[in-house]
This record gives sequence, C-alpha cells and structure tokens, in this order.
Amino acid sequence: MRIQLYALPILLLFTGLEAGLLSAQGPTPLVTAPHLEKRGMATQLVVDGKPFLMLAGELSNSASSNLENMKPVWPKLAAMGLNTVLTPVSWELIEPKEGSFDFALVDGLLDQARHEHMHIVFLWLASWKNGMSSYPPVWVKSDTRRFPRVVLNGSEVEVLSPASPATQEADGRAFAALLKHLKEVDSRDHTVLAIQVENEVGVLGAARDHSDTANKAFASPVPQELTQYLKAHRDTLDPELRTLWDANGNKTTGTWAEVFGETNRADEIFMAWRYAGFVHGVAAHGKAAYNIPMYVNTWLGEGNSQPGDYPSGGPQPRVVDVWKAAGSVLDIYSPDLYASDFIGWSSRYHRNGNPLFIPETNSGTAGAANVFYAVGEQNAICFSPFAIERSRDEKGDLSISYDTIAKIAPIILDRQTAGLTHGFVLDKNHPSYDFTMGEYIAHVSLDEIFGHRSQDGYGLIVETGPTEFLGAGRGFRVSFSPVSPTAPKVGIGAVDEGVFEDGKWVPGLRLNGDENDQGRGWRFGSRQAGIEKVTVYRYE
Ligand code: DGJ
Repeated sequence: MRIQLYALPILLLFTGLEAGLLSAQGPTPLVTAPHLEKRGMATQLVVDGKPFLMLAGELSNSASSNLENMKPVWPKLAAMGLNTVLTPVSWELIEPKEGSFDFALVDGLLDQARHEHMHIVFLWLASWKNGMSSYPPVWVKSDTRRFPRVVLNGSEVEVLSPASPATQEADGRAFAALLKHLKEVDSRDHTVLAIQVENEVGVLGAARDHSDTANKAFASPVPQELTQYLKAHRDTLDPELRTLWDANGNKTTGTWAEVFGETNRADEIFMAWRYAGFVHGVAAHGKAAYNIPMYVNTWLGEGNSQPGDYPSGGPQPRVVDVWKAAGSVLDIYSPDLYASDFIGWSSRYHRNGNPLFIPETNSGTAGAANVFYAVGEQNAICFSPFAIERSRDEKGDLSISYDTIAKIAPIILDRQTAGLTHGFVLDKNHPSYDFTMGEYIAHVSLDEIFGHRSQDGYGLIVETGPTEFLGAGRGFRVSFSPVSPTAPKVGIGAVDEGVFEDGKWVPGLRLNGDENDQGRGWRFGSRQAGIEKVTVYRYE
C-alpha cells in the first residue's frame, strides 16, 4: 500500500488475508476476504475462492435508512435476479454523537440480505455526496473551525475541504469503525463484497477551492510524487492527460499552472490531487481494519462541460492517473455511467488493470442490453442500475438479461481470463461487428429472416472449444469465416438450445430449420434472450 498524504497521522499495516476465525464450534478453516485477483487477461472479484460476477442494482439514497422500508425490497430484488445490492450507509446514522457508534441498521441490513441470499456493497456516504457535504453528522457540519470548508466566489459553502487533516481523521475513524464491525460480523459469511468510499467527490460551481490555504497550495510547486509518477508512467497515461502534460513541455517542476497550463484543467488536476489524498487516507483507515475491495465513483463530465459543472477533482478518466499517483489504497475507479456513449466511457475506465465496475447506470431496456456488452466485452465485475428498488417491471428486460447471464456466468468468468468472450449491443447505427475468435472471424449482425429485420439486439458469445461457441442474447445472428483467406470455409454444424444443470450443458431442442435460417446463421430471435450452443465445421 502506498499513500501520499499531507498529514495522515496513522498508517496501519494490514495483511491481504484475513486471519483464521475462532468460533464456538472450534477453529474454522482459514478464510480469505473478498478480493481482486488478476487471472490471465481479466481482473476478477474472488469470493470464497471463486470468481464472482455482481449482477447488481443500487438503491436510491434513502431506501436503506430504515429497515422496515427495506423489508419488501429484498425479496423483490431477489426475484428480479440480482445477486448484489449497492446499499447506502451514512456517517450521520452510524456516529450521531462523536465517538459513539451505532451499527443496528448495518446489522439489520446484513440479516435481511442474508435471508434472501443476497450480497451487499456498502456505499460510505460521508464527507461528500454528489460534491456536497449533506451526510456528515451535525457535530461535524456545525464545527466549521475544526472542519473547514471550501470557498467559492469569496464565501464559504457547505462543502467540507478535502485539505483538512482533522476532517480526514474523523471520517477515517468512523470508516475504520464500520470496517472493524464488518470484519467482526461478516468475515465468515462474506455478505459484503466491496465498499464505495464517499460518493461522486469534487467541487461544484467552480473548478477549484479558492480558500486562502488552497490559493497558497495552488501557487506552490506541484509535489514531486505527482510529476515523478507522470514521468514514470508517461506511456500509459490517459491520452488526454498526456496530451495536456506534453503540450506544457513535460515539466517536472513548477507551480500547478506552470506544469499544467493556465486553464481550468490545472485547477481540476489540483483538486484531484487533494481529493485523492483525502479519500486514499480514509480508505487506508478502513483497510487497516478489514481489507476488502474499495472503489470510488465518478459523476462524468460529458461533452463540453467544464470542471465545476461536474464535481471538479473526482476521478474523471483524464485524472485517474493523478489519483493513482496520490496513493494505491483504492482498488477501483468507477464511472456512474448514464452517458449515451456507453462503449467509450467503459473503455476509458477499463484500462491499465482497472476493472470495469459500474455502480450506477440506466435500468430498463438500455440496462438489459448494456450488461451484455459490459460483461462480454469489458469483463465488468459489477453492473448496477440506480434506484433499482423503484423498478416497476419485476420480470422485465433487465431481469431476463440477469437471469440469462447468471446461468452461464461460470463459463464467462472462466473464458474471459483467456480473452475468449465478446459482447455487443446492435441498433440501426451499429448493425454489425466482427470479432476474431481463435481461427475464426465471427460476423455478428442484427437478426434478419424472411425479410424481417430486428430493430435492435444484444448478446455475448464465448469460445468454448476449437469448434464450439456458446451464445446468449436476443435479436442477432452470427456467421463465421476463417481468419486465413486460404483456409477451408466454415459451416454451421449444429445449433442447440439448452440449459446448464450443475455446471453441465443439457441440450434442449436441436435448431436446424428456420431457427438457424436453414444453416445460414446462428440466430437468436428478437422476442426474448436465450442461450444456444453452436458447433462449426470446415469444408473446401
Ligand atoms: C448520482 C449519485 O451518485 C446518486 O447518489 C444519485 O444522486 C443519482 N446521481 C441521481 O441520479
């Protein structure tokens, strides 16, 4: 663990493994806490020794603040096919009085989740939520001397300063108490898989804090830890950050404006460094108590929006490297992905070993489609539409997608380690994609039969053997050709629909008529997502 902080008074050591537990029944075997593991070409979440795919949803902000309110929610979400729920837990509710903690709500949520065989990712709503500071307890909010605030346009606003060691210490202490408690009550069950630290941090309304301390720091030299990081990682920096640093002459000394230019991009990098230092520090307190995966989420700055239109300093792709330079405690940088360019944003976060974890996104038909792309193409470890408890259509498209993917998740997780999965979303603007898979090119396109063309389609395909593929989804068809133009042609041997029972493929109908367009294509009809296997053969 590496961390750069202005003044982090403690830095406790922790091990990657949770120690063996003692129970009333005697010692239980050594158990490993949920953790991330690089397995071949994918970074996966490993729970109880196996890779785990979070088919999840995030609760709206206040749903989990009351256990009675949550009672009917868990069974509803289980019926929708979720295996994980992203569940807020706020600083104000667990430490209403400084130093006295109340975990009754946390324990109640764990009980309710376990009853429905669900997992939880807790969202630590503390110093900031959507750039504001509404979730700290009143004893924090009211003590502006001890817990200083950000200054915008000449006056203090109700936003805690990320440069305050006292605030970091108080937030970190509460976070550590929560993690210590989770270790006590959950290190055997592993109901809690990960934790989000703060929510959509960054300053809104201006590109940076203009308090006296911030102005002074902004006019001081950029810390060497940052410029040395940029130098050492120049080849893998986010292209936007690299272009900016290149354009300003790759300086390794100078003030923020000298190194990054006289624009609001320098302000944003400055704020990113401050928030990153704070959040890595809070996470370090938590990890010292219980080492489970920790991530931060991002309110994305779309189109021409400027830092301050969105929270400036949050881990936008262009400043993720700045966050990484400030510390290595946080495991994942995540997009709250409501934007229309789902592919572009996913790709910008799924790079340099950062796995794609989508804590917030759209539900409904868009979510039902995007989950196939995220899992099949970007090895996403979590897909989680927001305000999931408000879904009206319990057996809707999202639920069908989750159900379909869950049935083949072990195979997807196994094959993605070798880069043998692809996912896609098709529509009139993107009617086809080609994927090279082993010796074959798989041509995926909108389904079409007897003059009728699907308007949209989505799915994923997995190479399961030298002549065999598994597919899932709806509204698309696949044909194959050889990678080498001189190799024999590729025909469709047989298509079977089927199910997996106890990990074994049990074929159902043999689909060799209209269903595979009389041998012309491996088809997935447009009505409902299905699972099919195809075998291919060669001919001259
Ligand atoms: C993103 C935030 O992270 C959520 O808490 C919530 O405020 C949603 N936006 C609302 O769309």
